[in-house]
Amino acid sequence: MITEATKARFAREVAKYPADQKRSAVMACLSIVQQEQGWVSQESEAVIAEYLGMSQVAVHEVTTFYDMYNQHPVGKYKLDVCTNLPCLLRNGYEALAHLEQKLGIKMGETTDDGLFTLQQCECLGSCADAPVMLVNDRNMCSFMENERLDELIDGLRAAEGKA
Ligand code: FES
Repeated sequence: MITEATKARFAREVAKYPADQKRSAVMACLSIVQQEQGWVSQESEAVIAEYLGMSQVAVHEVTTFYDMYNQHPVGKYKLDVCTNLPCLLRNGYEALAHLEQKLGIKMGETTDDGLFTLQQCECLGSCADAPVMLVNDRNMCSFMENERLDELIDGLRAAEGKA
């Protein structure tokens, strides 16, 4: 459900563009919904479409083009591991495999406790720091060798009282 408070946040984004170009705020509106709800449902896309005067399919095209938008609910911590070529050559795939083993899930899955979702992602623009990963679309983690991955996961579990 999109609240009036959420629409007020939409309005602040729309105000950044000329009045006849409201649709330029579509990515910002999708990000706001994802921040607040954790993912972007088709119902949310419909509200955004109406708010911005766009077709729903045009909003959906944006959601599906960028892989940082979640099209389904994800765990509290979404772990995106880069497996593009430069990272692949510097243990990116090993990092993904290590996380699969440590979390007991496969890429694309969420742990039973709802804490972690594991995904692979496109280049994060930090190839020299491989292997790299992004946590919850915001926090970049560099040089994530297995020991550092263990520290990250153990630390997050401890913070959640699930050590
Ligand atoms: Fe992984 Fe560029 S290929 S950050």
